[in-house]
Amino acid sequence: MIKKIQLGSTNILVSRIGLGTVKFGRNEKVNYPQGFALPDDKTILHLLAQAQSLGINLLDTAPAYGSSEERLGPLLKTQRNSWVISTKVGEDFKNGKSYFDFSSEAVRESILRSLKRLETDYLDIVLVHSNGEDKKIIEELHIFETLSEIKKAGLIRAYGMSTKTVEGGMLAVDQSDLVMVMHNLIYSAEQSVIQYAHQKQKGVFIKKALASGHLAALSSEDAVRDSMKFILSEPGVSSVIVGTLNAEHLKYNALCVEQALS
Ligand SMILES: NC(=O)c1ccc[n+]([C@@H]2O[C@H](COP(=O)([O-])OP(=O)(O)OC[C@H]3O[C@@H](n4cnc5c(N)ncnc54)[C@H](OP(=O)(O)O)[C@@H]3O)[C@@H](O)[C@H]2O)c1
Repeated sequence: MIKKIQLGSTNILVSRIGLGTVKFGRNEKVNYPQGFALPDDKTILHLLAQAQSLGINLLDTAPAYGSSEERLGPLLKTQRNSWVISTKVGEDFKNGKSYFDFSSEAVRESILRSLKRLETDYLDIVLVHSNGEDKKIIEELHIFETLSEIKKAGLIRAYGMSTKTVEGGMLAVDQSDLVMVMHNLIYSAEQSVIQYAHQKQKGVFIKKALASGHLAALSSEDAVRDSMKFILSEPGVSSVIVGTLNAEHLKYNALCVEQALS
């Protein structure tokens, strides 16, 4: 069974591997090695059951992942409290195009829409879905002030940012509960953010642990095992979010995480 860990200084317990859900709702303008069809509900339910049986309780979604939130809502309804749901604000994806809005109004609207789509009355985690302008979003648009108010109102339990720069990652660590960074065998430019978060007792999620599948495509199982080992050798990492539509891949990824932690 996959172990759980306290997410930074929050009271949220997350499994050391989480399930990424881009592929549940979006197959347009994505950067995976191969094209794919969106899964049917039965496939998603099977993956969710597989995840739970492995001890995985963390799901990462976003309004920008096409119909991902809308797909998950009805499927999670009877099992809401078994999951830690992490979604995002700031990016939307419509008619094949990304739109960004980090204003206070847009953030509030987006959270209300996510609550509705996910058929729940609270979100465990909300991350800012950065367009790369991390510093501006934090310092000029004061997005964490908005999210802090929403947290105080009880709609969300924790907030942070999926960053794209070291500078932004550091600011997010200082001003929020957690940060999500890209880190894997072939990209480690944001490692200092993970180390800073560890020092400040903040949570860290890893995105693109398999370089969106390009790493796994290169040398398959060894690459998955080596990347998990590399990522989890960094003590600040709370959870590795890996996207998959394949239950066998999910099982193998969980095994690699378990082995990396043993
Ligand atoms: N800006 C952001 O905030 C941001 C950006 C990117 C991602 N994310 C989050 O992070 C999650 C993961 O990122 P990602 O989906 O881009 O990349 P990833 O997890 O690095 O890679 C996912 C790809 O790897 C393949 N894969 C997974 N396990 C495998 C295995 N054991 N063997 C072979 N192939 C395997 C999957 O294909 P199969 O379906 O065939 O398994 C999928 O195409 C996303 O779902 C999302 O939740 C956030």
